[in-house]
Amino acid sequence: MNETLSPASYRNGKLVIDGVDALSIAEAFGTPVHCYSRAALEQRWRAYHEAFGSRRHQICYAVKANDNLSILKTLHDLGASFDIVSGGELSRVLAIGANPEQVVFSGVGKSHKEIEAALKAGVGCINIESDTELRRAESMASALDLDCDVAVRVNPDVDAGTHPYISTGLKENKFGVPISEALELYRTIHKGSRLRPVGIACHIGSQLTSIAPVVDAVANVVQLADRLAADGIEVTHIDVGGGLGISYHEETPPSIEELVTAICEVVPENYRIDMEPGRSLIGKSGVLLTTVEYIKRTAAKNFAIVDAAMTELLRPSLYQAWHDVMTYEASPDAPSLPVDIVGPVCESGDWLAQGRSLAIAEGDLLAILDSGAYGAVMSSNYNARPRAAEVLVDDRKVHLVRARQTAEDMMANEVEHLIEY
Ligand code: LLP
Repeated sequence: MNETLSPASYRNGKLVIDGVDALSIAEAFGTPVHCYSRAALEQRWRAYHEAFGSRRHQICYAVKANDNLSILKTLHDLGASFDIVSGGELSRVLAIGANPEQVVFSGVGKSHKEIEAALKAGVGCINIESDTELRRAESMASALDLDCDVAVRVNPDVDAGTHPYISTGLKENKFGVPISEALELYRTIHKGSRLRPVGIACHIGSQLTSIAPVVDAVANVVQLADRLAADGIEVTHIDVGGGLGISYHEETPPSIEELVTAICEVVPENYRIDMEPGRSLIGKSGVLLTTVEYIKRTAAKNFAIVDAAMTELLRPSLYQAWHDVMTYEASPDAPSLPVDIVGPVCESGDWLAQGRSLAIAEGDLLAILDSGAYGAVMSSNYNARPRAAEVLVDDRKVHLVRARQTAEDMMANEVEHLIEY
């Protein structure tokens, strides 16, 4: 199956999100608004689940991609486990009733407070990223009189061939432990009293568009697992991380099935395979609706100034990422215009799409596609802009799953501490 399902399409010449008229969503909830399709999310989830067939596996949704409680609840109901990277994400998955044993805690800088919360909650596995973190976790577990399963996240030193900001598996990246040093770390864990070494983890980067680097990395990890077994340290799972890319523009990433099949081929049957997908589950499910406030023509360029900005979708500003743009009308009357889609934020880097040719006029509704992953989660209140509303479209019904922030919400933590001279 080629997983290209996008919830945005045209029906009778008008843009619909999962069959619901986009304008009706904009009118009911205002813009900018993040819309998610439950059907698209479920389709992707099933693609992962079915690709594993009878192989023992655990799919831990990477909460960082989209931490909306209703998205987490939807995935939980479908059977997902979770990959978290902070105490805040732990609170979120516990809030929707996730079983802590099905939670994997990754991340390079876990604080005392976060490790304590994870130990007390009884998370399924802490993925250790350094010898110093290991010492901290061991001594905290002893002090709290608690046991915990752990894996070491190794850095397999392979080039994932992705944007440098989202590549994590090279030796110059801050993530993981060099694979050559991992054996020593496992011996230390084995000698300690509170932590049990149950797995090995790796994650080489995000928005990966080819299988080869993943397979290379996983093969290195399997070698380490065999080496550990020879040393009497038997791990039971191999966590291959997340990272599968989606097609934003002209990328042709492997399908979920192709990737999972390739991984299953390199991991021996005796290990459970854990995966931590984020973007490939939720990226295509999301669409950001925004309204054109102004068309500004200058000698150099035309700008469509819209009511969404880098504060709602940072990826273009941060990674020069491409997101497709759809107009509400399939064949608008206006002539096509070479145009940059920009936000109102006071930064020249505040753009959502550059060098497009679109037939748009002031007041038009636009959809910025593929914004489900690393969209709303990377929002900010810069320029005192409220966080956008989020809706989930399910079976032609539109549910508000996050109310738009108000000015009062944004000031709440300051008002009672307001300094008076
Ligand atoms: N596991 C670990 C340890 C990770 O660091 C990540 C992502 C994932 C899983 C999930 O990766 P995914 O399947 O979503 O590729 N903000 C960037 C992406 C940063 C990814 C960080 N780590 C973007 O917008 O492209």
